[in-house]
This record gives sequence, C-alpha cells and structure tokens, in this order.
Amino acid sequence: MGLFHRKAFVEEPAAVENRFFHMENINKFYPMGEEQAHILKDINLDIREGEYLSVLGPSGSGKSTLMNIIGCLDVATSGRYVLHGREIEDLTETELARIRSREVGFIFQNSQLLARLTARKNVELPLIYAGVSPRERSRRAEEMLVRVGLSDRMDHHPNQLSGGQQQRVAIARALVGNPTLLLADEPTGALDQKTGRQVMALFQELNAEGHTIIMITHDMNIAAFAHRVVHIIDGELTEGGGTNDA
Ligand SMILES: Nc1ncnc2c1ncn2[C@@H]1O[C@H](COP(=O)(O)OP(=O)(O)OP(=O)(O)O)[C@@H](O)[C@H]1O
Ligand SMILES: [Mg+2]
Repeated sequence: MGLFHRKAFVEEPAAVENRFFHMENINKFYPMGEEQAHILKDINLDIREGEYLSVLGPSGSGKSTLMNIIGCLDVATSGRYVLHGREIEDLTETELARIRSREVGFIFQNSQLLARLTARKNVELPLIYAGVSPRERSRRAEEMLVRVGLSDRMDHHPNQLSGGQQQRVAIARALVGNPTLLLADEPTGALDQKTGRQVMALFQELNAEGHTIIMITHDMNIAAFAHRVVHIIDGELTEGGGTNDA
C-alpha cells in the first residue's frame, strides 16, 4: 500500500526540492481526553505543478485536517512537507503567513465571508493583506465577481445572497490574488447541481490556465472532475483507481 502512492512518479524521478509539493510520512494527532487521536496516518503525497487532484473521503476521515496542513494553516505533528522547494517546518510564522496570502487560495467548507462587508469588499480582502493598491484591488475584485457570474450582486452583503452565491463570492475571493495553488474544501457542498457544474467548469478553466488545484470532497461525482483522485479513509491515504468504479 505504502509504496503504491508514489508509483505514478517513479518514471520521472525529480529531486524533492524540484517538485511542487511533497509530503512524506505526515502524521497528525489531536488530544482527545487523556489520549491522542491519530487523525492523519503516514500520509505520502506528491503533486506536480499544474495538477488537478481530488481528495475523496467520508465525513471525519481527515480531509479538512489535511487541507489545513497543505495550506500552511496548521502543522503536522510529524513528517516532512516540502512546498515549492521549501521545508515547511523550517519556516517562520511570517514566512508561512506570506505563503498563505500570496500563494494559496482557500475555499473553505463553509464560505466564511465577513458579514459586514459587501461581496466586493470580501473579494478584495486578500489583496489588502498582499498590499495591492485600492484601485487595483477594486478592479481585480470586479473582474473575479464577473467571472463567477455575480456582476449584479457586487454590493450585496452575504445575508442578501443565496448559499450558492455566497460560495461563488468565496471562490472569487480565493482566486483574486491569482494563487498558484487553489485549495477547495467541498466547494460544491452547498450548491445545487447546476451551480455545482458551473463551479466545476470554472475549476477546469483555471486548471487549464496553469493553477494547481486540490479539491476535497465526499462526492465521487465531483471528484471525477479532477484528473487524479486520492482516497482518504480513517486518516489513511491511498491512490485512487478510476473514479467511476469506486
Ligand atoms: N481541532 C481538533 N481537535 C480535536 N479533534 C479534531 C480537531 N479537528 C478535527 N478533529 C477530528 O479529526 C477528525 C477529522 O476531522 P476533519 O475535519 O479533518 O474531517 P473531514 O474529513 O474534513 O470531515 P467532513 O467531511 O465532515 O468535513 C474528526 O474525527 C474530528 O473530530
Ligand atoms: Mg471537512
């Protein structure tokens, strides 16, 4: 099992430093009463730049925990994680914050918009952190909101938007900084089928433009949109076969 994960990469041996993303024996424990709950178990995962990967697994299997580690929001208890040639455990909090704000676009499981800000201001937020000028911020936020089909909702607040529209604002916010890596946790979980398909079409476009995408889902029909699927069950990751026969 353990060896199987890396099989796809055997033909193209590259130094770890040159891979986009490399995880080696990643473990995560959370304290649970007196004990430690073992949430991620010896995860090995390599991703090439430009890949579109889906992590498929049931509720509680560790998907969001893994996403938080990938996005440098959390750190593993043990193991090695190399992102774009950098050993993550060697980085300072400032360097990690820089990666989070400049290189990774997050779409969280619940859209996590700020209720007091309009759609436009929510989308501008990552650009404020990145120090982009107000004019440029506003231009890029509008461009992204148009792209996700919300040109007529830019000045609405989240509570004036439907769940699907809120999710699309969250997607625009994740993309506005033009991140190399897009991390999406159940991006279609709150959407009807039609809107979900639109979001999947958008992801396909983004991937064609060169964004690396990691999409987390419990739905194999959604996972099938990715080019590669890995399964996570009870904290253990295995490389997927076809998605249609899963
Ligand atoms: N901060 C925490 N402290 C303790 N246990 C946690 C913490 N976060 C998550 N867990 C536990 O880790 C396990 C994995 O949680 P995680 O959120 O990664 O699952 P998931 O696969 O994203 O599930 P879902 O599909 O329901 O979102 C769960 O059993 C959860 O209770
Ligand atoms: Mg989750």
